[in-house]
Amino acid sequence: MDQELNTLIEQAREALAQADDTAALANAKARFLGKDGAITQRMKTLGKLSPEERSQAGKRLNETKQAVEALVSAREQALGQALLDARLAQESIDITLPGRGLGSGGLHPLTLTIERIEAIFRSIGFEVADGPEIEEDFYNFTALNTPENHPARSMHDTFYVEGQDQHGHGLLLRTHTSPVQIRYARLHKPPIKVIAPGKTYRVDSDATHSPMFQQFEGLWVDEDISFTDLKSVYTEFLQRFFETTELDVRFRPSYFPFTEPSAEIDMRFHDGPLAGRWLEVSGSGQVHPNVMRNYGLDPERYMGFAFGSGVERLAMLRYGVGDLRLFYENDLRFLAQFNR
Ligand code: PHE
Repeated sequence: MDQELNTLIEQAREALAQADDTAALANAKARFLGKDGAITQRMKTLGKLSPEERSQAGKRLNETKQAVEALVSAREQALGQALLDARLAQESIDITLPGRGLGSGGLHPLTLTIERIEAIFRSIGFEVADGPEIEEDFYNFTALNTPENHPARSMHDTFYVEGQDQHGHGLLLRTHTSPVQIRYARLHKPPIKVIAPGKTYRVDSDATHSPMFQQFEGLWVDEDISFTDLKSVYTEFLQRFFETTELDVRFRPSYFPFTEPSAEIDMRFHDGPLAGRWLEVSGSGQVHPNVMRNYGLDPERYMGFAFGSGVERLAMLRYGVGDLRLFYENDLRFLAQFNR
C-alpha cells in the first residue's frame, strides 16, 4: 500500500512537471484530485476496510493527498511566475519615462480670434450682435439693395434651403454677415455701434476659401460721422489685433451694392515675413441711402459706415497659417498649438 502511494506521488510529480500551461495543469490535477481522480477513487474504497485498517489507510491516504496538493500548488506558482516573466520580458516598460499627464481641452483658434476681435471692439464702444445663419433671401440681398436679378447675387452663389419663411421669402445660408445690419438697425436707435461675428457660406473651396467661413460685420450709424472715423476705428482695431503700430492701412475704391462709396481695406506690415505687401482684410463703405431707408432711418439725417471682414484671414495673418483649410481639419497637432 505504502509503495503504491509513493508511486502515485511520483506519478503526480511527473505529470505536473510536464504540464506547462494552465489547461494542462488543470488536467493533471484532475487526474489525481478530481472527482474520478486516483486519490479520490482510493478514498471511496476506505469504507470496505475494517475500522483499524481504515484509520491507518485513511491517514496514509490523507498524507498522500496533501503531498499531491502541495505539488500542485508549487507547480501553479512556478507556472504563474513563468507566465509573468514571459510577459515582462515581452512588454518592456520603461518606468523611468515621465508620465503623459491628462490632456486639457482648449479653444479653437478661430474662437480665440473672434473673442479677441469682440474684446477690442467692445473696448471702443461697440456692442456684439448675432444673426441667423439660415437667412431670408430678403435680408441677405433685397434689403441690402441687391434686388432679384442683380448681378452681384451671382458673386454670392450659395446654398438655398427648400421652403419659405412665413412671409413667403426664400431661405438660404447667408453669404455674408451684412443681413445683421438690417436686423440690428431695425431694432435699435442711433447712435448704433455694433459688430456681428458669425458663420457665412459660399460655393467656394481652395487654400484661401472654404464653403463655410466666418466674418464679422461692423456697423456705425450716427448723425455726424465720416470716413475718417471709420478709418481711425479700423486702424486702431488692426493695431491692437496685431499688437503693433508698425502697419499701414489704405482704403481702395471698390463696389458693393449696399454701400456708396465702397472700399476695400488693405493693410501692410512694416516688419516680419509679410513686410511691405498690401493685404486685403475687409470690405467697407458708407451705407447706401436705400439701405438706410431699409433700416427705417432717414438718409438725410443719418450717416452710416459698415465693414465686413474675414475672421480666417485675420487669424491666418496673426498666426502665420498658410492654408485656411487647416482650421477645419480638426487635426489636434495643429489645433493644440494655439492653447499652450
Ligand atoms: N458683405 C461684404 C462681403 O461679404 C463685405 C462688406 C460689408 C462690404 C459691409 C461693405 C460693407 O463681401
